[in-house]
Amino acid sequence: MTYHEPVLAREVVDRLVTFPGGLYLDGTLGGGGHSRAILDRLDADGRLLALDWDEDAHANQEGERAVLGRDSRVSLLRLGFGDLDRLPAPWDACRFQGVLLDLGLSSHQVDTPDRGFAYLYDGPLDMRMDRRLERGAADLLTELDERELADLFFRYGELPEARKLARLLVQARTERALDTTGRLRQVVEGRFGTRGSFSLLSRLFQALRIAVNDELGQLERGLEGAFQRLAPGGRLAVITYHSLEDRRVKASFRLWAGEDDRPRSRHLPVRELPVRARLLERRGLVPGAEECERNPRSRSARLRVLERVEA
Ligand SMILES: C[S@@+](CC[C@H](N)C(=O)[O-])C[C@H]1O[C@@H](n2cnc3c(N)ncnc32)[C@H](O)[C@@H]1O
Repeated sequence: MTYHEPVLAREVVDRLVTFPGGLYLDGTLGGGGHSRAILDRLDADGRLLALDWDEDAHANQEGERAVLGRDSRVSLLRLGFGDLDRLPAPWDACRFQGVLLDLGLSSHQVDTPDRGFAYLYDGPLDMRMDRRLERGAADLLTELDERELADLFFRYGELPEARKLARLLVQARTERALDTTGRLRQVVEGRFGTRGSFSLLSRLFQALRIAVNDELGQLERGLEGAFQRLAPGGRLAVITYHSLEDRRVKASFRLWAGEDDRPRSRHLPVRELPVRARLLERRGLVPGAEECERNPRSRSARLRVLERVEA
C-alpha cells in the first residue's frame, strides 16, 4: 500500500519552485511525494528541509521504500510546523525560497486502525498525529464536561447537533468508557441511526482530531512562521481540506496582500494595510476531475499560493 498519494503535485511545484538552487521547506513530509517532486525541480545546489511531527512519516523514509532515497540535499526533522521558531541551527537563521504546508492526515494515518482516525475501522480512540502529545481523543471524551464537549463539536465540527451529541456521550460514558472508535460509532448510530450518522460521524471525528492536535493553533502559528521566514520573492503554498482551514488561510493571505477582509460597513473606515504579498490565484486551485477520480481523497483539496513582495 502506498503511504500517501500527493495531491495537486504538479500544480504545487510549478508555482513553488522558482529558483532551482534555493532552499525550500516542506512542513508536512507525509509520504514524501511533494518533497520528491520539489527535489526533482532543484539543481545540485538546491536544498530541502522536510518536517513532520509523526514518527511514522520518518520511519517510512528508512529502508528500500524511502521516497526521498539517499538524496543528500534533504534534511528531515521531527517537528510541528507551528513551531518554526524552534528550528535548530543552521535552519533558525535561514530564509526559504518556498514553503509548502499540505494540511491534514496522510492516507497511512487514516488507514491504520491503531491510530484511531477513522470510524470505518475499530481501534483505540487516539488520533494523536504526534504521539508525544499527552492527550488523545479518548482522554478528551473522558475529561471534558458536557458544555466543553458541545463547544468543541460546534467549533471544530460545525455540528448543529453539538449539544445533543455532547449529552448523549456524557450519558454513554457513565455506562462504559468511550475509548474505541467502534464504541463511539456504536453509541452515535444507536441514537441517530446507521444512515443518519454518516456525515455526523465524519464531522465528529474531524472535531476531535482538530482538538487533539490543536490543528488550528498549529495552522495560525505555521502560517505566521512560514511567512516570516520567506525570502523576498519567496512563495508560500498551502493545501487545505475543509472550510475551517481554508477560511484561515484565505484571511491571512488577504491581509498580507493588503486587503481589508472585514465586511463592508459605514461604521468601519477602510484600513490602509501594507502590501507584503501577491496572491497567485485569487480563489485558489482545486484538483481536476481526472485527479479526483484517481485519488478520491483529493476531492476536498484547495491550493492557495502567495509570493512575498517586500524585502
Ligand atoms: C496530507 S499529509 C502530507 C502528505 C505529503 N505532502 C505527501 O506528499 O505525502 C499531512 C502530513 O502532515 C503531517 N502534519 C500535520 N500537521 C502537522 C504539523 N502541525 N506539523 C508537522 N506535521 C504535520 C501529518 O502527520 C501528515 O503526515
